[in-house]
Order: sequence, then C-alpha cells, then structure tokens
Amino acid sequence: MKLPNLNIGGLSAQIPIVQGGMAVRISTGRLAGAVAACGAVGVIGASGLAFDELTREIRLARELSGGMGLLGINIMFAAREFLGIVQTAVAEKIDLIFTGAGFSRDIFKIGRENNVPIVPIVSTGRLAAIAEKFGAAAVVVESGEAGGHLGTDRPLSDILPEVVQTVKIPIIAGGGIYDGAGMAEVFKMGASAAQIATRFVLTDECNAAPEYKHRYQTAKEEDIVLITSPVGMPGRAIKTAFVEKILKKQAPKPVGCDFCLKSCSLEYCIIKALINSQQGDIENGIVFSGANVAKIKDRSIKPARKIIEELVKEAEEANA
Ligand SMILES: Cc1cc2nc3c(=O)[nH]c(=O)nc-3n(C[C@H](O)[C@H](O)[C@H](O)COP(=O)(O)O)c2cc1C
Repeated sequence: MKLPNLNIGGLSAQIPIVQGGMAVRISTGRLAGAVAACGAVGVIGASGLAFDELTREIRLARELSGGMGLLGINIMFAAREFLGIVQTAVAEKIDLIFTGAGFSRDIFKIGRENNVPIVPIVSTGRLAAIAEKFGAAAVVVESGEAGGHLGTDRPLSDILPEVVQTVKIPIIAGGGIYDGAGMAEVFKMGASAAQIATRFVLTDECNAAPEYKHRYQTAKEEDIVLITSPVGMPGRAIKTAFVEKILKKQAPKPVGCDFCLKSCSLEYCIIKALINSQQGDIENGIVFSGANVAKIKDRSIKPARKIIEELVKEAEEANA
C-alpha cells in the first residue's frame, strides 16, 4: 500500500518521513535539503547555531531541496537564544518550526502571526493536549528510545496510543524507528508520519565528522547509555571517554561559559562536548544516538535518498 502524504497546517509532504533535527551541526542544510528533495521533511538542528549561520543553512537547504518536500528547524526551548532563532527562521520563511525540551505560549503567537506551523515535541498525552489547545499544527511524540535529550523513559508503543486517543492534530511518531517495518507499525497505531534521526547520521550529507559516523557504525547495544545533561534532562548517547567521565561524575567543569542555556547545572559544558564530537574529537565529546543504532541492518554510509527509498519500500511492503 502506498504511504499517504503528510499534511500539516495547510502544507503537504509527499513522503511521511520527518528527519529529526540534530544539534549541534549534525543535521545542517545539506542533510535537510537532501531529505526535502526526496519529498520528505528535512530539519536543521538549530540549537547552538549563530543567527547568520542559520540563515545560510536554511538558504542552502532550500536550494538543495529544489522546491520539493518541506523544510523545518528544530530549536530547544531551553536555549537562551530560542526566540532569536525562531525569528531568524521565520524571516527566512521556513515551512515548519519544531520545538523540543519544553514550549511556551509565545511561540504559537509567533507562528500564527507569521503563518508558520508550530510542531512541539511531546512525550505524554497531557502535553500533546496542551500543545493542541495552544494552537500546535501537529505534534511529534518522542519516546524513550530516541537519541539526544529525553522527556520520558516510556517506549513508543506505550505513549503513541495515549496521544492518538487524546488529540486530533497530525501525530509524528519518533524514537527508535530504524526501518520500514517500524514505520508501518506507527502508521497502524495512528501516526501520520515517522520521525527518524539516528538512521540519517549514516549518510553522505550528515554534517558529522567521519570519526562520529564510524562510532555509529561500530556501536554495540551495550555501548548505548543514558547520561544526565546540564539541561536538566537525561540524554541517550554512545559511550566515549567523556561519557564515561560523566557517568562517574568526573567530567570537567565548564570554562569560559557563555550561558547558552536558560538554566544549566554547570556540571560540564554540553555544547563544547557536542561540538567536539561533531568535529571528530570523539573522546572529548558526546555522541548522541537513538537506542537502536546497533539494529540498523546496513550501517554503510549512503546518500540520504537511498535511505528514504529503502524506508518507503520496506514500509509499503510491511503495509501490504
Ligand atoms: C545526534 C542526535 C542529535 C539530536 N539533537 C536533537 C536536537 O537538537 N533537538 C531535538 O529536539 N531532538 C534531537 N534529537 C532527537 C531526534 O530529533 C529524534 O527525535 C530522535 O532521535 C528519534 O529517534 P531515533 O534517533 O531513534 O530515530 C537528536 C538525536 C540524535 C541522534
């Protein structure tokens, strides 16, 4: 059976796959543009970017998309520059704004005034209902199997039915989906799209250093751990020397802090650790990853288009 289009707030993507936003500089314009060019939704991870850098990345993504699919940015509410990032994206006429790690009423007002659909990331039916009431165009339901900062430890199979029963807006389900069979399952449960991030790290267009992608290729199930983030949430990552230090509470304290977060425990500098790994200094960095990275059948690095073709084919076969 052919997969349905994804319709959000008057916009439509031909392929119901959202490439999850990945900071810092893991999903930039190149990946988002390549995903959108396939007719899916490409998302730039905007947390940690300067405003002019974000402008350049959105323009690059737009150019690479060839006018196909949809383009979004993902910004963490906990980021001090949250509003500036949102305004920059709005000025660039971004199609969608995804907001994680909390949200405020203000963001919906900005979305309404500028005709940009807002898509909050939620982890409970209760939060999904609040988002819908405030004016969300859709929600991403992100489960405990996801990579990066986590709002819950509940599996997708547990949260998704709760959200499906609670809201009428489109639901994008994410966390641990690594193949088309997993996509087909969430569609059966009532989702309108799948949000997938981990699988897109193993692409030519992902902006992480080769050493980062190599860690994804070699990670075993037991290498995936939960850390505490200075943001005040748990995070899922692949073990590195720096991650081991976090686990032992021996990570170095921040030096030269620029207060990038609204509130930070100052236990260690997460932005520096994420930038280190993105640039290839894995041992001094954090490599965020979803729980199922080791289950990906083929961990070779390919064009994003190949991965989307595989996912769609598998999902359609599983749905037949
Ligand atoms: C390397 C990496 C970085 C991420 N960064 C962000 C981020 O900046 N903001 C966000 O809301 N989610 C972030 N996530 C979560 C993803 O967008 C996505 O929702 C989730 O990882 C989906 O699960 P999967 O990776 O198993 O497909 C990140 C995930 C990964 C793997």
